[in-house]
Amino acid sequence: MGETTNPGLEGVIVAETELSDVDGEAGELIIGGYPLEELAANASYEESVFLLLEGRLPTADELEAFRADLAARRRITEEVQQVLRRAAEDGAPAMDALRMGVAAASLGDDRDEPEATSGIDPEPRDDAMRLVAVVPTIVATYWRYRRDEEPLEPRPDLSHAANYLYLLTGEEPTPADVRGLETYLNTVIEHGVNASTFTARTVVSTESDLISAITAAVGALKGPLHGGAPGPVLEMLREVHEEGDPEGYVRAKLEAGERLMGFGHRVYRVRDPRAAVLSNGAERLYAQSADADFFETVQAFESVAVDALAEHKPDRRLETNVEFYTAALLDGVGVPRELFTPTFAVSRVGGWSAHCLEQLEDNRLVRPVSRYAGETDRTWTPVGER
Ligand code: COA
Repeated sequence: MGETTNPGLEGVIVAETELSDVDGEAGELIIGGYPLEELAANASYEESVFLLLEGRLPTADELEAFRADLAARRRITEEVQQVLRRAAEDGAPAMDALRMGVAAASLGDDRDEPEATSGIDPEPRDDAMRLVAVVPTIVATYWRYRRDEEPLEPRPDLSHAANYLYLLTGEEPTPADVRGLETYLNTVIEHGVNASTFTARTVVSTESDLISAITAAVGALKGPLHGGAPGPVLEMLREVHEEGDPEGYVRAKLEAGERLMGFGHRVYRVRDPRAAVLSNGAERLYAQSADADFFETVQAFESVAVDALAEHKPDRRLETNVEFYTAALLDGVGVPRELFTPTFAVSRVGGWSAHCLEQLEDNRLVRPVSRYAGETDRTWTPVGER
């Protein structure tokens, strides 16, 4: 048994993976062998998912078949719709609704058992495809109910990204918005064994199923230290944009002992490489929009905040993380603020699922040990004498 404890498992290698490599010192991210910058600029989301599930890019024919397969799985059952309607009527936050929707994903589904097509058990792989396909529908269905609108039928003729925007708004999105969202989806699809991915791997390591694993991962993603930051980032940026005093805002927050959302990372000690990709995507998008001056505020705020954080914590490099430009990009493509974290899940479900399949290929039950720090010499006192 190890002698040292590692709170938060910091620095502990818990798995070997072929899915991504996060180099926190150099600020580099490789997904399925490709530098993030190359993947984000060129891939469709469907290609990224194929890459993670199959370990290589698809040929043109394979891609067409894969797209069609995913598109055919987008619909959710009446039963799942009812769960989401009830969640919306109760005013449940979007991540809670997503958790309920994913947990219920098999409700009312009487599909046939899948046939084996690869070395991986067909059922988990089939669940992976189904989950990647339905998460956007679950999020959009909840959102439509929340706004007293009827949910829309998924459009199999649209790409994964375009269909998601269509389901949210009822309008066919512009190519610029689709490209903006696709950049985002490719950028956050996979990122090592972060908290939600580790959660998913832990669940399947017990030989539980993928729906349970992804439900648990959604729960882990919800927290503000993981995926819950971009909503507050947008509020912060809009406030600063209105008031026009980034220095004053940053100073007041840090003096009050608060954290600046969108900065700092457990692994990166330099600017998160995803921030650069998202910033470029957002810059392209805002250049064509009436809100271009907002993006200027965003860029100005970043530089003020990074300088102030360096002064505030000279021993710990606190740089821009993925959530900072996520807020600007998702706002720019028209995703409502309440759906930022669920939209993270729309993408990350690809990475979670691939990790689950990887875990199952060579499974070892995840079971770390703890160091006991409690009392040892107590003797039992009957309840009446306590
Ligand atoms: N603003 C101000 N101070 C920050 C900070 C931030 N964004 N992030 C970290 N710090 C400070 C901490 O207060 C801590 O100071 P202390 O030693 O005086 O207590 C120190 O830096 C180290 O932080 P720690 O909590 O150990 O870092 P971590 O590795 O556990 O946390 C995050 C990483 C992402 C959770 C953390 O940086 C954070 O809370 N960021 C803001 C939320 C956010 O953007 N989340 C999205 C992550 S992708």
